[in-house]
Amino acid sequence: MSIAVFASGSGSNFQAMVEYARRQQWSTPISLLICDQPKAKVLQRAERLDIPYHMIDPRRFASKRAYEEKVLTYLEQSRIEWIVLAGYMRLIGSTILNKYEGKIVNIHPSLLPAFPGLHAIEQAFHYPVKVSGVTVHFVDEGMDTGPIIAQEAVTIEDQDTIESLRAKIQQVEHRLYPKVVDQLIQGKIQYRRRRVE
Ligand code: GRF
Repeated sequence: MSIAVFASGSGSNFQAMVEYARRQQWSTPISLLICDQPKAKVLQRAERLDIPYHMIDPRRFASKRAYEEKVLTYLEQSRIEWIVLAGYMRLIGSTILNKYEGKIVNIHPSLLPAFPGLHAIEQAFHYPVKVSGVTVHFVDEGMDTGPIIAQEAVTIEDQDTIESLRAKIQQVEHRLYPKVVDQLIQGKIQYRRRRVE
């Protein structure tokens, strides 16, 4: 069994994860990248790192379900057990979730539940809060709402800019995310649905 990373953009987390996995000689390897953006830089990183990938353009499918069914066929072909979202700019739908509940994780650049969604870094900066950070969580049907696994704070200083804050957050992401996924594949973290009061 192995791991697939889903990414839509630059792929710096994808690269950090692959490099960490190789250094640590994970017994569950990262064997696949799924990308939904033909021009994403992550595709070049996959070439350089020699990780097989599928670029699947959702616009070529009649529905989200049809797109996700195609993704599922690739996941099954590669015997994927875990899905690691790393800047995948799309909500996971029920077609994939039904097959992989408790097996999908995401990283988000804020301390959830503060600042969910696409512009977390900008929103924290402009709010302005003094502390933001990084969250790793299981994925459910919501936008950044699944059970939280790990969080790390990042302080926002007066002299910070959006770009310096982004750099600090990414540094934490590259260190934290591979460690969490490592624990996950070793069975050290259990999935529990979020308690809803
Ligand atoms: C990261 O900041 C992650 O938290 C968010 O998307 C960004 C992806 O960056 N979900 P990269 O493509 O890994 O560089």
